[in-house]
Amino acid sequence: MSLPTKFPKNFQLATATAAYQIEGAKNLDGRGFSTWDSIRSENGRIHDNSDPDLSCEGRLKYKEDVALLSKIGVTSYRFSISWSRILPDGTLKTINEDGIQFYRDICLLLRDNGIEPIVTLFHFDMPLSIYDNGTSWLNKENCEHFEKFADLCFQKFGDLVKTWITFNEINMQAWSSVVKIEGELWLCPDRPEIENHEQAPYIAATNMLLTHAKIYRNYQKNYKETQNGLIGITNGGRFCLPASDSPADLDACNRALDWLFNYTIEPILTDSGDFPASMREKLPFLPKFSEEEKKLIKGSTDFLGINYYLSHIVRNLNDGEEPASQSERDAAYAFNEGKWEKICGETWVRYAPDGLFGLLKYVRDKYNNIPVFITENGCMDLVGGEGRKEEEILDDKHRIKFISGHLEAVAKALEEGCNVIGYTLWTLMDNFEWDDGFGVKFGICRVDFDSPDKTRTMKYSAKYYQTFIREFKKHHNLL
Ligand code: BGC
Repeated sequence: MSLPTKFPKNFQLATATAAYQIEGAKNLDGRGFSTWDSIRSENGRIHDNSDPDLSCEGRLKYKEDVALLSKIGVTSYRFSISWSRILPDGTLKTINEDGIQFYRDICLLLRDNGIEPIVTLFHFDMPLSIYDNGTSWLNKENCEHFEKFADLCFQKFGDLVKTWITFNEINMQAWSSVVKIEGELWLCPDRPEIENHEQAPYIAATNMLLTHAKIYRNYQKNYKETQNGLIGITNGGRFCLPASDSPADLDACNRALDWLFNYTIEPILTDSGDFPASMREKLPFLPKFSEEEKKLIKGSTDFLGINYYLSHIVRNLNDGEEPASQSERDAAYAFNEGKWEKICGETWVRYAPDGLFGLLKYVRDKYNNIPVFITENGCMDLVGGEGRKEEEILDDKHRIKFISGHLEAVAKALEEGCNVIGYTLWTLMDNFEWDDGFGVKFGICRVDFDSPDKTRTMKYSAKYYQTFIREFKKHHNLL
């Protein structure tokens, strides 16, 4: 039985992008300034010092991009709606009809090509004016603005969009959206100074969970009956394995899983409606949910999105050890370099399909086999290959190994009864990789950023995925 035929007929094989990473055209449609426009204008902040205006021009080239998606044959396309392109100052004060029309056009084109849209409402970029007023997700007013934005999206796109994701990587976003934290990724402009710095990620997570739940309930109450869509949330997924069988390492490994993965989904997916017990023990300041809030949050998702790139080997802290990141310090654990291949060279990505298999079984057992959509998985071009010829870049064998290894892990998980409903390859094309600028390229299609047309060319991995999907569709008579 070949690999593509191991996936059930209704399984979704997708690829993805995010608005800020591909769109460009920051002044079109009356779009407002976003946090990432600000971050990119900070001198020396983006690792490759790329021009703050450089982009794939996805806003202008969307017709070509949908044609590319159709050529690859994906069943679904995950993209995000830029909050600033619809509401330039983040609030309902000004609604940009041109921005709305743009996303409707994409959805209509996708529909004409038989591709299901999967829409993320928040993928790391917030309208700058509200960020400035109130410290991102620490500010409850911003949460209300986001709820209104989500409601507007349901009104304007709900006839065409049947799968919604409220937050991309709520766990990562909570860690790094409010203040720059030493040792963590930075997803926020370098301001404002927050006094209770060490509490900020947990307060942000609390606010975002409540916001997600309110959006979910609003959809159930006002839109579900007529639109009949699904609402999910995406969590960054890293599996953790203990460095040894010692009870101390096993405990540390469980705490790491709580801090890195469980804390933003356990309140939604378990009866407790609360953060993991280990967090309650260690963090006296952790915000408390009222009984009413717990009721609101519990069960507020139709599926769990998981982005998966790596796993970790975890150990207990040695006496007197002070790890660099706040998460390790708060939860008292540390990472050991793992057994996994650095498939792209010296980067943070690891080839750990067994970790994905482990994580899927963990979710099956811990979270009542909630439907799981893998909303991202992929790897970058080989690093250290500067000066490589075009042909060598396109011949991305390591990425084909990465993708097929993870698809095999998903097939194995399906055999073990895990409720996986879809797989998404990150990403359709080389694009703006946040702090790394354009120096790190995750695309299955290459973008020639020097050409005026930003020409897209399928890498071999895109062709592999195309063949894979064709075989899957043929097997199920979907062609
Ligand atoms: C994010 C993407 C990002 C990818 C690779 C994920 O955390 O959702 O926006 O490009 O990782 O770093």
